[in-house]
Amino acid sequence: MKKIDVVATSKSYPVYYGKGIFLKLKFLIDKNRLNRKIFIVVDENVYSHHTTRIDSFISSIDLKVCLYSFNANEINKSAAQLNDIYSSLIENGFGMDTLIISIGGGITGDIAGFAASTYNRGVQIIHVPTTLLAMVDSSIGGKTGINFDSTKNIIGTFYQPEFILVDTDFLKTLPEEEFICGLGEIIKYSFLTGGDFLKKIKRSLSKSLKLDTKLLLNSIETCIKFKAGIVEKDERETHGLRKILNLGHTFAHAIEVERGYTLKHGQAVILGLTCSLYLSRKLGIINEKLLREYLSLLLKTKDRINLNFFYAMKIYEIMKRDKKSVNDKIKFVLIVEAGNILVDVEAPAHMVLESINNGMDHFLVN
Ligand SMILES: NC(=O)c1ccc[n+]([C@@H]2O[C@H](COP(=O)([O-])OP(=O)(O)OC[C@H]3O[C@@H](n4cnc5c(N)ncnc54)[C@H](O)[C@@H]3O)[C@@H](O)[C@H]2O)c1
Repeated sequence: MKKIDVVATSKSYPVYYGKGIFLKLKFLIDKNRLNRKIFIVVDENVYSHHTTRIDSFISSIDLKVCLYSFNANEINKSAAQLNDIYSSLIENGFGMDTLIISIGGGITGDIAGFAASTYNRGVQIIHVPTTLLAMVDSSIGGKTGINFDSTKNIIGTFYQPEFILVDTDFLKTLPEEEFICGLGEIIKYSFLTGGDFLKKIKRSLSKSLKLDTKLLLNSIETCIKFKAGIVEKDERETHGLRKILNLGHTFAHAIEVERGYTLKHGQAVILGLTCSLYLSRKLGIINEKLLREYLSLLLKTKDRINLNFFYAMKIYEIMKRDKKSVNDKIKFVLIVEAGNILVDVEAPAHMVLESINNGMDHFLVN
């Protein structure tokens, strides 16, 4: 089992990662002297695939334990679902000495994290991410949240966990389209880091969309280390540095809402990255050669994203109410070249609309 420490301003905590390490969860809870009144928020799909492992952990708990299973989709990343979690915590007599454990993808982590940050003014939480996207991105850094009134993640908190446990064995049951979603975030990280990591991803994607075991582990480790480094310097996104992690996301969140959450978040990130590359080019920020080179990585996934139609103007209007917009002005994260990212860039409406059309047209199925 390997470990990376996230040394955030509000709290330091470890990310344990490796193959088969879910078995060590009870040991790690004891080692870190955490509460033993445990409320598990689990994605029902994950529970159905991994019942034996999760039940075996539950039976090892010597105090109180309650399993809250839910249908993890964007519609349920909601105030209604959150209320249901609070009700279950209260009905089952959980108090300040609660430890919440989220087992699932980003949706489970986001809503369980929000519940933990607010229940009893904050109780302990551990994240056990089970999707590639959650392992490389969403479980790290303490952002929690729910969707509200058609706006993604508009209500949320920063709340760091006690620790994160990344067990790659969960990926054995992950559907291929979810793997592609995680791959989208990995491509994003390769644009953020540049250098060797970008080269490795490029080389691998030129052969196949699957990452071999070594590169998969290396990617998980690289993304966690990179994100941990950013969170350490700018935990609450106040200095601008953490904003670089939002590359592609201003477009992506609006695309998700415009498509009524029929596209997965990770698929929308791939579309959003494509649109941001076009916008970077239109503003003269990136050169044509790099645009083509980076686009070609994203377009490897295009057969796995079924986009039937889209309304560019609606996406644009939704972006204006994104929480990152200021006075109706949309702030973009754009790319000069891999490893060199600009934040808070404004752009004329016609260029934004053209970028949406140029980017998303690639993914339309006829
Ligand atoms: N907090 C953050 O910093 C942050 C960062 C990025 C994304 N997010 C959020 O994360 C969410 C997307 O997360 P996601 O892509 O992990 O999706 P998800 O949580 O919706 O999970 C995707 C699907 O995979 C299934 N699943 C999960 N693990 C599985 C496994 N091991 N085997 C089989 N099926 C499994 C789930 O049931 C679900 O159907 C979005 O809501 C996004 O806004 C948050």
